[in-house]
Formats: sequence, C-alpha cells, structure tokens
Amino acid sequence: MIRVCMVCLGNICRSPTAEAVLKSLVAAENLGHEIEVDSAGTGAYHVGEPPDRRSAAAAERRGVRLTGRARQFERSDWGDFDYVLAVDESTRDTLRRGCPPGSEGKLYMLRSFDRASPPNANVPDPYHGGEQGFEQVLDLCEAACRGLLDEIKRSHIERR
Ligand code: 4NP
Repeated sequence: MIRVCMVCLGNICRSPTAEAVLKSLVAAENLGHEIEVDSAGTGAYHVGEPPDRRSAAAAERRGVRLTGRARQFERSDWGDFDYVLAVDESTRDTLRRGCPPGSEGKLYMLRSFDRASPPNANVPDPYHGGEQGFEQVLDLCEAACRGLLDEIKRSHIERR
C-alpha cells in the first residue's frame, strides 16, 4: 500500500480538496487497494472542523465529495506516509523544520507533479478570497494529482 498525505495550513480548504481529487482519480482506476490518501494541516486553528463549505461546494460542482475532519500533521505521520505533499512553500518549510532525519525524501511540493507548473509553484490560499480562488484550487489540484498518480503507478505499481 502506498500512503499519501496532502498538507496545507488549516486542513479545511486545499488539502481536503487535494485528498478528494486524488481519491476520485484512484477510484476511477480501481486502485483503492493500492493507494491510501489522507490530509492534515500544519496549523491547529481548525482541528475537528469539517471542510470549508466554499471548498465543498466547488468540489461538489465537479462531482467530488470532500470528507473528514481537520487534524494537525503529527511527527508520527512521517513514519506512516510514503508521500507528504505540501500545497505551498510555507507549508513545505514548516514540514521540513519538523521532519525527522531520513524522512526528507518523502516531502514534495504537490504541484511539482504537474509538468506544466514552474518550480516551487504554490496552490494559493483561497480562504480570504472570492469564489474564483476555490475553482483555481480545484484546477491546480486536478493537474497535480493526475501527475502524482502517474508517478505512483510508474514507480510502485507497474514495476511489480
Ligand atoms: P487551507 O486554508 O490551509 O487551505 O485549509 C486556510 C484555512 C484557514 C486559514 C488559512 C488558510 N486560517 O487562517 O484560518
């Protein structure tokens, strides 16, 4: 089983969106027994809350259902996951500071799996903006998750 954790700041907008988008791609390819997807936030402000309703509504319009409750990323997550994906540089830097020696190789920028994206590209925080920001989060997550799923299949599944 390959385990993937999407990480943002609050775990109510971007990382639940990325989690749900990757899960829907995994389900469409019947790979649910191979790939497990979760999400978390570096911050604790929204722990226990459901996904932001604006994120949920934008995802729903594309047939994607956001699930789960916000949780904070924990040190033990480094041992539990194979891929820890940061939505932006701030999240990546926070994760990197708390990363146990030897786990650095699990940390990636989510958009690094989108070939069309420039290096170190962020998924912009939509929380304080308008509706368009939530649509953009979905567009960026869809492009990145397609590339990520291709990469996981290439490096872990097709070569078995
Ligand atoms: P997220 O969005 O990191 O994509 O879940 C945010 C949610 C809440 C806050 C910031 C970003 N906040 O400042 O409370």
